[in-house]
Amino acid sequence: MIADRIRRPALLDKIVSAEEAAALIKDGMIIGMSGFTRAGDAKAVPIAMAARARTEPFKITLITGASLGHDVDRMLTEAKVLARRMPFQADRTLRTAINRGEVMFIDQHLSETVEHLRSNQLGPIDYAIVEAAAITEEGNIVPSTSVGNSASFAVLAKKIIVEINLSQPAELEGLHDIYFPGKRPTRVPIPVVTCDSRVGFPFVPIDPDKIAAIVVTDEKDSASTIEPQDADTSAIASHLIRFFEDEVEKGRLDLTLQPLQAGIGTIANSVLTGLADGPFHHLRMYSEVLQDSTFDLFDAGKLAFASGSSITLSTACAERVFADFHKYKEHLVLRPQEISNHPEVIRRLGVIGINTALELDIYGNVNSTHVNGTHMMNGIGGSGDFARNAFLSIFVTKSLAKDGKLSSIVPMVPHVDHTEHDVDIIVTENGLADLRELAPRERAREILRNCVHPSFRDALMSYFERACARGGHTPHLLEEALSWHIHAQATGTMHKS
Ligand code: COA
Repeated sequence: MIADRIRRPALLDKIVSAEEAAALIKDGMIIGMSGFTRAGDAKAVPIAMAARARTEPFKITLITGASLGHDVDRMLTEAKVLARRMPFQADRTLRTAINRGEVMFIDQHLSETVEHLRSNQLGPIDYAIVEAAAITEEGNIVPSTSVGNSASFAVLAKKIIVEINLSQPAELEGLHDIYFPGKRPTRVPIPVVTCDSRVGFPFVPIDPDKIAAIVVTDEKDSASTIEPQDADTSAIASHLIRFFEDEVEKGRLDLTLQPLQAGIGTIANSVLTGLADGPFHHLRMYSEVLQDSTFDLFDAGKLAFASGSSITLSTACAERVFADFHKYKEHLVLRPQEISNHPEVIRRLGVIGINTALELDIYGNVNSTHVNGTHMMNGIGGSGDFARNAFLSIFVTKSLAKDGKLSSIVPMVPHVDHTEHDVDIIVTENGLADLRELAPRERAREILRNCVHPSFRDALMSYFERACARGGHTPHLLEEALSWHIHAQATGTMHKS
């Protein structure tokens, strides 16, 4: 019943159609919209905005938590609504528009966006458009399957449009922990001291008079697009399990490991699922996206608690989890992304960060974002928040891309997201390179020996040896360093013969 979801009767008068809500959005506005890795996104108003723009053109700056579902980024791009977009996206059509220079994309650490809003370096937000599972008696907002940046959007925006989604389980209420850091420079430490610390409200506290419109929807989150495990991702998981077992043997970790973070995508998800096969127990997660692997680990009895900012699941996993949500709820919390990804908390909890590289170089500098150094794939997302501050910063990748034509390990990356200083461990299907406490020449030998695909090993070894002969702390042949990419641009492959 709608009155159970909108429990402040005066707000029932604010219910309008998606088209009426979309009409409130004007040219030049800055919009903060919910949605984090396809979860908890606004599902009706942005689509109505795209429809309206086809007859009545307008442009906005769109800020979200991270990527959206329901093809919203595609529709808004096709309708030419997006002038500026931040801080992350993962949509093919939008990516093409970004790379043509038609949409200005600001690729930002996910923990930082609301800091910029709070300090007026960005904003102000004209409208927050946020999905909710409910509105309380006091008029506060109960988020749905993600928090992302929605809490700060709602608090800082001039006006709010709420999408009440009846398909989101009412049991989501109580899952969230909404905490806002104070003003700097007098901010006190964030009191999250364990993965399961609850330090804030179970709702977003707002002034209900700011709610300009409520739209009722009934559509599920878009399913995640992760692929099943394959031989390469299983091999990556086994190398990592053996490494963790070794660390336990050496007394540097115990079998509960340290809080785990796993990045988006197929590889990180498979690696985490693979931990179910190891001897580990009472694992904890302090992550941003909770994918199928989180619930595989719960079901295997391996995971004690998971803290994140969103729950993004495949259709089958979502059915399993939400049919029995009470079983998981007491072991879960969803936080604003500035808290799930907070550098200070990540460093203090000693998080083990596992993220995916697009490519990396022989010294361990990682490119997560730019194909050929110029073309945006998705964005840095939370990988920088975790990699810089992790207890162990792990990057995983298959050693080959594009049907074996490209090596994911190259002489020099043409774009650096994570410098060698932020990268401890590299894992490919061929093996694991432990780069801790190694000098650049030692790092290169470790990566060449363990991670590079055999079809590229001789060429890369030859590059390294000739560079070393020329000298330097981090030896390179500058005239040749990017030749692998240049060759691939011209011929489609990095193989030179
Ligand atoms: N050169 C060019 N393209 C490459 C490549 C390389 N070395 N390696 C991968 N790719 C392409 C793939 O071909 C694929 O392209 P397609 O979609 O056109 O087929 C795409 O990159 C994705 O690669 P895939 O192998 O499917 O891996 P993935 O889904 O795990 O994604 C990243 C890998 C790096 C793109 C993804 O993890 C990412 O966006 N990371 C940055 C954000 C992040 O790490 N967030 C973590 C905190 S949530």
